Amino acid sequence: MMCCPNHDAVLLSVRGLKTYFDVAGMALKAVDGVSFDVRRGETFGIVGESGCGKSIAALSIMRLVRTPPGRYAGGEIRFGGRDILGMSDAEIHALRGREISIIFQEPMTALNPVFTIGNQLEEVIRLHQRTTKKAARAIALDWLKKVKLPNPVEVLRSYPFTLSGGMRQRVMIAAALASGPKLLIADEPTTALDVTIQAQILDLIRAMKDETGVSCIFITHDLGVISEMADRVMVMYSGKVCEIAPTAELMAHPLHPYTSLLINSRPMAKGSTKRLVTIPGSVPSLRDKPPGCPFHPRCPNAQNRCASAFPPEYHAGSDHLLYCWNYAPGGVVHG
Ligand SMILES: Nc1ncnc2c1ncn2[C@@H]1O[C@H](COP(=O)(O)OP(=O)(O)OP(=O)(O)O)[C@@H](O)[C@H]1O
Ligand SMILES: [Mg+2]
Repeated sequence: MMCCPNHDAVLLSVRGLKTYFDVAGMALKAVDGVSFDVRRGETFGIVGESGCGKSIAALSIMRLVRTPPGRYAGGEIRFGGRDILGMSDAEIHALRGREISIIFQEPMTALNPVFTIGNQLEEVIRLHQRTTKKAARAIALDWLKKVKLPNPVEVLRSYPFTLSGGMRQRVMIAAALASGPKLLIADEPTTALDVTIQAQILDLIRAMKDETGVSCIFITHDLGVISEMADRVMVMYSGKVCEIAPTAELMAHPLHPYTSLLINSRPMAKGSTKRLVTIPGSVPSLRDKPPGCPFHPRCPNAQNRCASAFPPEYHAGSDHLLYCWNYAPGGVVHG
């Protein structure tokens, strides 16, 4: 059982999700039995090093993993009680963009270079609402104002390549929210932007979230960003969940050794005398994922049994859970 006191509070429930890639006769386990809930109105953060399965988990929620080579090998995804993995193609099409929207790291890839911003926004709006072209244009303009684009009338007439990365990401946020989705997935939405613009886009996402009440899954490898944005955080490693906890608790009292190392390896503020701790080793390739807990070869607290089986779910509090043999019954708790 996951810790969630109120069933109605859960918008998205993922249980034992397995998303594999069949490559050269091998099943590469990109998402390997992942369970979590996203509650209504919250921002749920997903963090972990590159390749740990954050994006594939997010894409799976919208059934956007290309199959083949991808395959949903097990588990369940329920959105507002509806079974996403069991939906027909028509049902999932109707859900995408309307009830769940996604924004990516590089907005240029999601925009069509040969159409104006206005054309593209109108199309998104008319896909989900019965309106005239003129009314759709007015709604599009309204959204460009909401996401605080300077000269919105001019932006409507512009082609994507004439806008800066930050402006394009504002357009994408407008496009993602224009249909009034219940869930917004933001996958590294600011990683491609420079630091000042990054801060502005994060502020915008927060403001839009407050205004619309949309629930959010926010993915990043940056714990600094996660602690600013998320109410709760899930730490992933090699397709597995390590720990899920409210953000402040996770940052102040990380329990899983991987979470602690991630927090300690954060780049320090300029002028800080604290030395940067790096995590020795690197994320294993899915081709030779270690048995048991995949983090054990890099874990300073590894015991013999860490190599033989993945640990059971351990509740460290009413809203804090982790998967680590050090906390399993009879396990040795370090430090
Ligand atoms: N089409 C594919 N075929 C085979 N393996 C894939 C495919 N797409 C993704 N993977 C693998 O799945 C794993 C998880 O990838 P994913 O993109 O979810 O990582 P991530 O945590 O989002 O990393 P990043 O921080 O770099 O975005 C990686 O090992 C990746 O190589
Ligand atoms: Mg990714």
